[in-house]
Formats: sequence, C-alpha cells, structure tokens
Amino acid sequence: MIPEEKVREIAERLSILEVVSDYVQLRRSGANYVGLCPFHGEKTPSFNVNPAREIFHCFGCGAGGNAFSFIMRIEGLSFPEAVKHLARKAGIEIEERQLTPAEKHAQDERHTFQHINDLAAGFYRETLRARPEGAPGRTYLGVREVDEETAEAYRLGFAPDRSDALAQHLRSHGISLESALKLGIVKKSDRGWYDQFRNRLIFPIRDTKGNVIAFAGRVLDASLPKYINSPESPLYHKSAVLFGMDMALPAIRTENSVIIVEGYFDHLALYRAGVRNVVATCGTALTTTHTGLVKRHASKVYTLFDSDGAGRKATIRSMELFLEQRLPAYVITLPAGDDPDSFLAKNSAEAFAVCRNKARPAFEYFVRSLLAQTPPDSVDSKVRIIDEVAPRFRKIGDPVERDLYEKEICRLLGITVHAFRKRLGGTSLSPRDLHGGGHNSAAPQGDTLHETLLALMGGYPEARAEVRKFGVENLFDGIYLELARLMLDAMPDGDDSQALSRLTEKIEAPELLTLLSRLLVADEHLADINWRTVFDNCKLSREKRALQSMRDIAARLAVLDPDSEEYAALLHQADALRSRKSKL
Ligand code: UTP
Ligand code: MN
Repeated sequence: MIPEEKVREIAERLSILEVVSDYVQLRRSGANYVGLCPFHGEKTPSFNVNPAREIFHCFGCGAGGNAFSFIMRIEGLSFPEAVKHLARKAGIEIEERQLTPAEKHAQDERHTFQHINDLAAGFYRETLRARPEGAPGRTYLGVREVDEETAEAYRLGFAPDRSDALAQHLRSHGISLESALKLGIVKKSDRGWYDQFRNRLIFPIRDTKGNVIAFAGRVLDASLPKYINSPESPLYHKSAVLFGMDMALPAIRTENSVIIVEGYFDHLALYRAGVRNVVATCGTALTTTHTGLVKRHASKVYTLFDSDGAGRKATIRSMELFLEQRLPAYVITLPAGDDPDSFLAKNSAEAFAVCRNKARPAFEYFVRSLLAQTPPDSVDSKVRIIDEVAPRFRKIGDPVERDLYEKEICRLLGITVHAFRKRLGGTSLSPRDLHGGGHNSAAPQGDTLHETLLALMGGYPEARAEVRKFGVENLFDGIYLELARLMLDAMPDGDDSQALSRLTEKIEAPELLTLLSRLLVADEHLADINWRTVFDNCKLSREKRALQSMRDIAARLAVLDPDSEEYAALLHQADALRSRKSKL
C-alpha cells in the first residue's frame, strides 16, 4: 500500500502538463492546452489538458482523468505502478513498508512457484524443439502449419508420453515436488509422483509481463478432453488472465483496440496472419476483471466468438459487461462455420481486415439476433422483444448512445419512443402503443442540463450550498447523482479551488472520472451562465418527469381491477411520487 499523503505529494510536485508533455506535443489554447490525442488516431487536436485543474480530457474518444490515470493508460500500468512511475519522475522516494513474516513467506513462495513454472516451460519447450520425445508434437505442428518462429513466440512445448517426465526433470533441479503440486503440474498417488500433462501440445499461459503462470495442454488427436488446463493456483487466476496479453500489448497501444477470441488456436492463427492486438479467454466466460484489464489498455473492443449458439450467448453476455463498463464493443462475424483458424487457412489477412471493418456495435448485433429469432410481427412478440432488450438497454451508460439505440430499436419494432419508454419504466403497454411508429414524442433528455449544473457546482460554492439544502437526490439520477454526492463530500462550501483536483485523486471508477474531467476541462462557457437558472430548470425537469409518470399511473389505474396486486403496487408508487413532488 502506498500512503495517501505520498500520492498527494507526488500530485503536488508534478504538474499534469509536465507529465503529458512527455508523450504529447501541447500548445496553449485559452485556459487549456491542446494536442493530438495519444489514445486514438486523429488529425485535429481534441485532446485537452487543463493545468489549473490538473486534468485532461479528449473530446474525440472520451478518455479523461488526472496525471495518474494518464500514466496508467498510456503505459498500461496499475494504479500503484503509475504512482511509483511518477514518484521516480518527481524524485520522491516511496519507502516500501517492511513486510510482515507472513507476507515475506508468501513472497518467497511466489518466487519458488515462478521458478518451477519457468523450469517446466523450458522443459516442454526443449522437448518440442529438439528432443526425440518431442517428435509427435513436431509432426502435429506441421499438420497445423505452425512454423518455428510462431512456436517460439508462444514458447510452445510438448509434454512427453511418459508418466513422470516433468516430475523427474523438476526433481533433478532440486525442486520440492510438493511445491509443484500446488501449481497442479504434477500429482501424487500411492505409486508416486506423476505428470498432469502427457502427450499434449503445451501452450504456456503468461501474465501481462510475460511470466509463465500456467499451462494448457492440447491432445494431438480427437480424443477428449481436448484441453487440460492448470488449476487455479497462487500464480494463476483464470478469471483475471487474458491469454496473449503480453504479446498483444504493443499492437493494442497502436491500434487502441483489442480483439477477444475464445481459443488458443484462434489467437495463434491471427498472430500468424499479423493481427496482433488479440487476446483469448482461457476456457472461461469473460469476467469484469477481464474487461477491466482490457479497458486499462484500449478504448475499443471487438469480440470474435464462434458463430454457434454458445458463441452467440457468450457474445451477448460479454456485451452486458462492456455496456456496464462503458467500453465501446463491436462484434466481428466470420462466414458461418468458420473460426479464425479455418478462415485464415483459406483467406488472406486482408480478407480478415474486411470482416473486422464490418464489425457491428455489440448492442446492434444483440438486437438483430433477437429479431432474427423472434420476428416482431405481433403485439405479443414485440412485448417479448422489448422485455429482452430493456434490461440491457438500461445498462447503456452513454446518453448519446442510448438515444441512438432507442431510435433504432423503435424503428426496427415500429413502435413509438414513448411506448418504448413506458415499457422501460415498467408500465404495461396498450396495443395502441405498439402499432405504427413514426410519431416521436421524446421528452427532452435533461442530461446536458444536469451536466451543466454539475459543472457549475464545481465553480460556485453557492450552487453547492443550494444543492445540498435542496437534497442532491431530488435533483440528480444515476451516475450524475454519484458524482454530485462525491463533489459535495469533497468540497466544503467555502471557495477551495484545489478541492476539485483532490477529488480526481479519490475517484476510482473510470466512468465517473471521465464524466468529471469532461465537465471540468473546458468550462469557460459557464462564465455566462447563471447557476440559479440552471438549478431551477433541473428542478423543473424532475417535476415534469414525476408528473408524466403520475399521468401514466393514473391512466393505468383507471382500467385495472382495484383488487389486483398491480393496482395496489401502482397506488403505492403514486404515493411515493406525490410525496417526492411535494418536496420539490
Ligand atoms: P476450441 O475447442 O475452439 O479450441 O475451444 P481451439 O483452441 O480453437 O483449438 P482447435 O483449433 O480446435 O485445435 C476454445 C477454447 O476453449 C477452451 C480452451 O481455452 C480453448 O482454446 N477449452 C476447450 C478448454 O479449456 N477445454 C476444452 O476441453 C476445450
Ligand atoms: Mn476453436
């Protein structure tokens, strides 16, 4: 753990201009500095640095944050690593706390484990490369057309068809097999030690830095199981590792995107074809840890899963994770029946690039595959489709994206935006709602209004005091509410211009940091705006919304059986609304 004061000290010693200038050529523009964004390709500068606030924001790709998040992103570091990196630049020493005996023990054990994995990887590699016992592996590589250069890049290996080849090798290097047991590469029975992997092609699984942390072994024929994987161990947590990340990082940085595939051989086929910004899951579903890892290095992700039912499910499930994390996600589809390996065996890398360029946004893919399964040809099926779409739609964090999808869905289903929103809000729809689209009764979104108020809160202590008095939850929703709360907590009602920069150091959630930096990086236009007017308009917009739902409820109550459960629930809802309104 790095003490908070240290982080503060580093932040105070270094200006964000110094930090960013190491990577981006900046020139002054009003209160800000601008340059070409290092996180996405662009020809006109939309990357802004605000030195007074110590933040950056790109209006092109949405990247934003403080000096630490800038370094994390551009160097691909974790937060503590970024702090250390900047400490070095600032000439500040971070004294690592003395390890406790338990921590010391864990660290020693890690070193031992790493040493064992390195020995095992070396043994498998040498066997495949040169030993007589490796002949079947070499033949198999020939069949799959894997050349020596590719095999070396992956450090592919072969586990001989002997029961204790690895165990013997490790023992001859003075390794305690009890330790190797904890890594799951050898096992113990009454008859002694034996190897986990036998007669299999070995894919070493490496962490981001290139350390071998586990192995996967593929059979050479059609027998099952096709792969055996190292179990979870102190070094290996499969839900946190993306295979091939270490090889992909340079390309991920230049492309600012990641392609996620399912299989080791998918990865290999793309690598061999020169497509390098690729990672694979290790025989497990995508997790938030995975997506967090992706998000740390790139601002766009492609999934390329099998085109069968299981692949489609995995695609949609991963889309939900990306929506939650506000990471733009696209789906690459290959011709039916093809995976990257089979596709690239018949087609060129250029043909693959064509497929990638045709990738569709994940949400659109989802809606289209839903419509392909359930054609929206009756009221009933439309309702069913909306109910499938709704929970995912709510996860779309970006208001602009939401707006676009809302229109698209309504167009595809031939319903009005009003009807869609009604159903989203949990209200039942009348058949009339579901017929004939066209008429768009979209209410103003109110998002810019709330964003403006948040920005004004940053500059005017009076505005914060008023929001505090009125009750922050009576004004804001969702992510805006979260940020408003954080601002009020961090900023006392006095005039403290540093409080805001300190706030960026406290925020961990990337979507909050992005929102904050976007609001604060360019706020000159706010000088002409009266905060009181914006505040009043925010109040009004909430009121209107409450009124609208009140009307919906009233209309519904009129046709319901007063003894029904829904009637009681709606009455309850109406009461809650009324009491909230009376507070407004
Ligand atoms: P695939 O069967 O598609 O494997 O499983 P593949 O790597 O593309 O291999 P080839 O091209 O058929 O030889 C996709 C991934 O699922 C995991 C592995 O990570 C594999 O790469 N898997 C599959 C397992 O963990 N165990 C299995 O038995 C099968
Ligand atoms: Mn496959």
